[in-house]
Amino acid sequence: MYIVQIASECAPVIKAGGLGDVVYGLSRELEGRGNCVEIILPMYDCMRYDHIWGLHDAYKDLWVPWYGAAIHCSVYCGWVHGRLCFFIQPHSEDNFFNRGCYYGCDDDNMRFAFFSKAALEFLNQSNKRPDIIHCHDWQTGLIPVLLAEIYKYNGMEYQRVCYTIHNFKHQGIGGGETLAATGLNREAYYFQYDKLRDDFNPFALNYMKGGIVYANAVTTVSPNHAEEARYTEVGCGLGHTLHLHQDKFTGVLNGIDYDFWNPEIDRYIPTNYTYEDFEQKIYNKKALRERLLLDAADKPIVAYIGRLDNQKGVHLVHHAIYHALSKGAQFVLLGSATEAAINTHFHHEKEFLNNNPDVHLELGFNEELSHLIYAGADMIVVPSNYEPCGLTQMIGLKYGTVPIVRGVGGLVNTVFDRDYDQNLPPEKRNGYVFYDTDNYALESAMNRAIDLWYESPDEFQQLAIQGMKYDYSWNIPGAEYLKIYEWIRHRG
Ligand code: ADP
Ligand code: GLC
Repeated sequence: MYIVQIASECAPVIKAGGLGDVVYGLSRELEGRGNCVEIILPMYDCMRYDHIWGLHDAYKDLWVPWYGAAIHCSVYCGWVHGRLCFFIQPHSEDNFFNRGCYYGCDDDNMRFAFFSKAALEFLNQSNKRPDIIHCHDWQTGLIPVLLAEIYKYNGMEYQRVCYTIHNFKHQGIGGGETLAATGLNREAYYFQYDKLRDDFNPFALNYMKGGIVYANAVTTVSPNHAEEARYTEVGCGLGHTLHLHQDKFTGVLNGIDYDFWNPEIDRYIPTNYTYEDFEQKIYNKKALRERLLLDAADKPIVAYIGRLDNQKGVHLVHHAIYHALSKGAQFVLLGSATEAAINTHFHHEKEFLNNNPDVHLELGFNEELSHLIYAGADMIVVPSNYEPCGLTQMIGLKYGTVPIVRGVGGLVNTVFDRDYDQNLPPEKRNGYVFYDTDNYALESAMNRAIDLWYESPDEFQQLAIQGMKYDYSWNIPGAEYLKIYEWIRHRG
């Protein structure tokens, strides 16, 4: 099959979070199964150019219709760790992708409407006719709409779209001006509730809703989150739309790219290991302590890696630091916050804890350090308010770092409580799960983990090894996506 992925991120060249990992990892798996895969991305000024091989301007003259005129673009092409990627660079005064950031601009809706339009225009003008267009999150919600309403009548009638939602929180809700900009000229028609009109703000357009309505198949990133999105508030108002389109909506659990996230071959860690020589993991713990200037005492290390925002349960992340210290453990945090108040809060914490040799807060994004933390820590805490899938617990499992998670979203599909999970035999359990959002719930799960580490190290190691044996690679999800692609190719 010929598959084109269209997204706003692809790791490691453009990565703000798990979306980047997924676009890269899924593409690699699909290619490994004999499919032809290409990836279309914006050409941001701040992406990691050092991860692109052979970058050159493949299409110098792409003209993208925009507000009745056209914007001149160049399309660059290069390989990101073996994946063929096309980067769209508009030459216009708006400087859509030269902002020193991926997201967070006032005109984000316009920027990604342009990207969606340009990606389809590129396919069309360069005569690329993929069997499947797989697009991701709100940034590309207009792709299924534009394909069905414009490009289908313009040489692309056989292309089918799979639309994957990674986070319902961000839907691309905004004014209707993007309709005219992208050539969706019948404003009154698109501004209906069964099309793109937002259910809560009747004056606003909702890209994600449009994506759900128009795509041939819609997925989210875990089976549990697919249920939650339909029946609870985590669907952020799209539950009704998902109900109406439930015959084409499903949850597919993400995978992890074990070529990149694998302690056996990871080149960012000093000592490689597998579950067969688990005792080697300790050398990474030593290296982590040395790098972060932590005390060398015999204590467990609890880690947190992730964005610092309300989704991730920042109040519990904050509490986890102090609770770990009070239980005689060490704590390492690697995270970045976009919200000013949260950012300031963690900077104050960092200053406050500066002289404590049992804790290190690293504020910022650091891919290399994240690998050393996964390898060197004993436990990883993921206390999310909601979590569509979550990758850090799965990476933790692969590195023998026992996850302590809140039982929501994809965390429920991947972590099984050592003491309480009644559906699995003890030798299949792999971590700790708590449910309530208060400090006590988190504490009780952390206590169980830290107490086991101190009181019964062999059993703790056994639990970590059980986690390492889980297969959360792209193998199964890759096959599931191929089934969905086949289904929409034949059903339409
Ligand atoms: P989300 O996509 O909601 O941010 P995920 O758990 O799906 O959360 O994926 C997060 C990804 O980003 C993981 O690969 C994690 O290691 C990485 N990550 C998050 N924050 C940082 C950071 N500050 N530095 C390095 N990597 C990070
Ligand atoms: C989103 C979600 C996260 C998921 C990731 C990749 O950012 O917050 O739970 O793992 O996308 O699908």
